[in-house]
Amino acid sequence: MSKALVTGGAGFIGSHLSDKLINLGFEVTIVDDLSTGSLENIPSVARFEDLDVNGEGAKEKLIELAKDTDYIFHLAAIPRTQYCVENPIECHHANVTGTLNVLEAAVKNKVKKFILSSSCGIYGPQEKLPIDENAPINMGTPYSVQKYMQELYVGLYNELYNVPAVMLRYFNVYGTKRQTEKGSYPNVLAAFSKQKKEHGKIYVTGDGEQSRDMIHVFDVVDANITAMYSDLKDCEAFNIGTGKAASINEMAKYFECPIEYIEPRPGEAKHLYSDTSKAEKLLDWKAKISFEEGMRGYINDTTK
Ligand SMILES: NC(=O)c1ccc[n+]([C@@H]2O[C@H](COP(=O)([O-])OP(=O)(O)OC[C@H]3O[C@@H](n4cnc5c(N)ncnc54)[C@H](O)[C@@H]3O)[C@@H](O)[C@H]2O)c1
Repeated sequence: MSKALVTGGAGFIGSHLSDKLINLGFEVTIVDDLSTGSLENIPSVARFEDLDVNGEGAKEKLIELAKDTDYIFHLAAIPRTQYCVENPIECHHANVTGTLNVLEAAVKNKVKKFILSSSCGIYGPQEKLPIDENAPINMGTPYSVQKYMQELYVGLYNELYNVPAVMLRYFNVYGTKRQTEKGSYPNVLAAFSKQKKEHGKIYVTGDGEQSRDMIHVFDVVDANITAMYSDLKDCEAFNIGTGKAASINEMAKYFECPIEYIEPRPGEAKHLYSDTSKAEKLLDWKAKISFEEGMRGYINDTTK
């Protein structure tokens, strides 16, 4: 039986990924400090370790937990942009030093693949669309700097210590199990669900014509599984998006409630969407779930 270690496995994406790995017959160990994740998200057959990847003794504990592990998926992070603006040092330790501890476990256990959950946040606002992997890195927040540092360290560990690795730059991920209360990665759909529940209407900034590349969590899980099995020799970064932009107005209409238009957010990029041709070519991966299909499922699940 192959073994996988998933950091951040009690969170939104990590728990979906753990479910999938278990379905594929993997023995899964989840490492999570439950800071934004939840025990309810953890599949009952997974081994769970309540551990801060940046806590005292974390490196040694991770090395021990990853014994005989074939694949490490590193998702544990504080992925909240505003929180990282307010607490840059705490987030640096969790997001960057924590990644180094997990990488040490990958080196010591000679894992077959280290798969990093990176972010399109490293691109920041871009003039040229769609965004491909060669776009200028335009970090404007501590979170995006930290995600980029994760990539730099993964690249370095690949070069210096031969850790086979793939880095996946997710665009805006949506789907069920997302937490709106405790924090988690901010997402317009989660915000709309909460506003509708609490105020009976939703708030759209600006004219609502700004757009984002919304990718369903099942497609993100699929990208992780594809990356795990890939035989790429170099450590590459891939955009994981749909390649299409959905406007905020298009998203809003699925909520079937009144919309109040409010002041635009300063500095907010108008349009962001991915070019995924690199992943299509080198990983043979492409998103399968259309925005319409994904939204119908999302609304169905979140309003039940
Ligand atoms: N959701 C998105 O749209 C999106 C987009 C781009 C990148 N990402 C990346 O994907 C990954 C997962 O994001 P998510 O949306 O599932 O967020 P999430 O907050 O639901 O999951 C993160 C998990 O990591 C855990 N965690 C945080 N700090 C930890 C620490 N120091 N030690 C151990 N566990 C810790 C949390 O408890 C949580 O369960 C993150 O690395 C994030 O940067 C997410």
